[in-house]
Amino acid sequence: MQKKVHIKTWGCQMNVYDSARMADVVAPLGFAPTDEAADADLVIFNTCHIREKATEKLFSELGRLRPHQQAKQDAGGRMMVAVAGCVAQAEGAEIQRRAPFVDMVFGPQTYHQLPEMIARVTRGAGAVLNTEFPPEPKFDALPEDRTAPGISAFLSVQEGCDKFCTFCVVPYTRGAEYSRSVQAIVDEAQRLVAAGAREITVLGQNVNAFHGEGPDGTVWGLGRLFHRLAEIDGLQRLRYTTSHPRDMGDDLIAAHRDLPQLMPFLHLPVQSGSDAILEAMNRKHTADDYRRIVDKLRTARPNLALSSDFIVGFPGETDKDFEASLQLIRDVGFAQAYSFKYSRRPGTPAAAMTNQIAEAVKDERLQALQQLLRDQQDAFNRSMIGQTLPVLFDGPSRREGHMYGRTAFMQAVYVEGPARMQGHELPVTITAAGTNSLTGHIAV
Ligand code: 5AD
Ligand code: SF4
Repeated sequence: MQKKVHIKTWGCQMNVYDSARMADVVAPLGFAPTDEAADADLVIFNTCHIREKATEKLFSELGRLRPHQQAKQDAGGRMMVAVAGCVAQAEGAEIQRRAPFVDMVFGPQTYHQLPEMIARVTRGAGAVLNTEFPPEPKFDALPEDRTAPGISAFLSVQEGCDKFCTFCVVPYTRGAEYSRSVQAIVDEAQRLVAAGAREITVLGQNVNAFHGEGPDGTVWGLGRLFHRLAEIDGLQRLRYTTSHPRDMGDDLIAAHRDLPQLMPFLHLPVQSGSDAILEAMNRKHTADDYRRIVDKLRTARPNLALSSDFIVGFPGETDKDFEASLQLIRDVGFAQAYSFKYSRRPGTPAAAMTNQIAEAVKDERLQALQQLLRDQQDAFNRSMIGQTLPVLFDGPSRREGHMYGRTAFMQAVYVEGPARMQGHELPVTITAAGTNSLTGHIAV
């Protein structure tokens, strides 16, 4: 009998990628994916630790699942429950203590060992806690087969982070930087394209720190990797995320000039526009360094649109520091951005800083910053009205008879048209723009 696996994913694209690979790992064991947790034989919660109250949210989710697990057991069956991802990595023992009905707890570096973990639980050998950073990289042990990737696929090329920004848990949960080999990446990209992908977003916590072993035995950077990926027939679009300003090397910037496949849209988190705060965050660059990098990028690719991450209310942030963030936003101009109130992550240096900012001040600053970013995003989207842009169509939208696609700048576009547009890049004349999407019609 076919068994069912339900995987619920929180957090970043790395987790989305990891969840897809977990499905690949358990497929040979006879597990088919299901959207329903209640009747699954294996439920995996792939968690994210970056937002506040991640742990509490996990426990309430586990609490909701528990009666279903019990019901299944009462009916003579079994539901295995696993917690994966960064909360598992950071709080494995606590999860086992508070939710003893969880069968497996494992971090982002060990999910290739799922078959062994499942075998152990099935044998009745007790619950599994697997949050090591094993010496054997998981990528070498993952199966090749992948579930259908869709038009726009993710490909993980790099993991971990050695930067230790003082607010961030990633270096602790994802471990040290590690890059896959160029050959393994190219092989996976070719398989994705053969399975129908037309766009690949290359992923890594610190993706532009990529330093993978090339087929010639030398170390390749991300710019060189893109040159190789751009040779793959049928691969129309390349993107990458997330980058650190310090690793924005000249070869990568030149790739934006030389490779039409490399999309003119870049997510480049800056976090703050104040040099004092950037220093306290251990970002190791100044606000003007960031402006200079953006200038170089726009010289290489004049129509490049930017996205970023901002934190307001980092410990010690004064009104003047905050104003410097607003000024940087005005100077650079963003097509979109994410912004967050600083929140204390246990174990990180900033959490122990004594000059924490009052919640009300954070609220006020976040509102002002988001208003400015929203105005920029609106203006950017409105500037598309009347233009004809290439749109790569991902598939049908929820609206009957409409298709959904993306511009080169990552804007969502809704267009009336037939399902056979899926997978094609077509010229669309934009007729209307909102904050989060555009509408238009196929240009004739
Ligand atoms: N508080 C607020 N925002 C944070 N981020 C990471 N850690 C924290 C924190 N402790 C934000 C950063 C990062 C994004 C993924 O999440 O802006 O770039
Ligand atoms: Fe976290 Fe990114 Fe800083 Fe690494 S570079 S510590 S992932 S914010």
